[in-house]
Amino acid sequence: MLRIGIMAALYEEIADLLDTMENVVTRRIGMRDYHAGTLHGQDCVVVLARIGKVAAAATAVTLIREFSVDRLVFTGLAGGVASHVNVGDVVIGTALLQHDLDASPLFPRHEIPLLSRSRILADSGLSAKLERAAQRYLQQDWAQDISPATREAFRLSVPRVHVGLIISGDQFVNRVASVRALREALPDALCVEMEGAAVAQVCHEYGARFAIVRTVSDRADDSASHDFSGFLAAVASHYSAGILRQVLDTL
Ligand code: ADE
Repeated sequence: MLRIGIMAALYEEIADLLDTMENVVTRRIGMRDYHAGTLHGQDCVVVLARIGKVAAAATAVTLIREFSVDRLVFTGLAGGVASHVNVGDVVIGTALLQHDLDASPLFPRHEIPLLSRSRILADSGLSAKLERAAQRYLQQDWAQDISPATREAFRLSVPRVHVGLIISGDQFVNRVASVRALREALPDALCVEMEGAAVAQVCHEYGARFAIVRTVSDRADDSASHDFSGFLAAVASHYSAGILRQVLDTL
């Protein structure tokens, strides 16, 4: 059976998953708890990676080297960057880029030094499964999971699934000017977060298959931190647990 590593940056993003896990054995390595067990009949290791690229990279290396995971999935929240990406939508990252990486003039802006690339592609098979799982979650479970009051509070209408570029950096983006600058520099970016591209780089270097799924909690603008906190408390865990339940059933 495949062993799946599941990472998130914040506890709320994996709370429901940890509640449903069975036969759990926890190992503490480098200030993180790795929970190995069974989730919907699938062998999984679930870990709270913490926030930012270094935290994500360190955790991904441990999942690959200490736990021999066959696939790695990062689940969490993101700020919408593209104009058509709304709060409550789901984004599957088929390519990942570090928007704050700039070793110019030694290397072109955004290029990872000595890897000769700025974008790293996620595993296409796993990403396609996550896309279908997200679609099934939104069609079948979302209406029961997210109450009408919550939908109204976050102005969620009919959420959609997007597939494409996710950008990552060690910044919580919460200014209109900042998100506009990202949009101008990277016109095809769908959303911004703080870990995905670091996981992508580590997985590329180790030859490990990975996918990134993000729920849009805010629009990375002046009200982003307020929107993010509310969404994290009320909605995040439902999406992560719902989408991962759907995908684990297919692996
Ligand atoms: N994760 C969720 N919202 C975000 C934002 N606005 N910037 C960076 N990471 C995020």
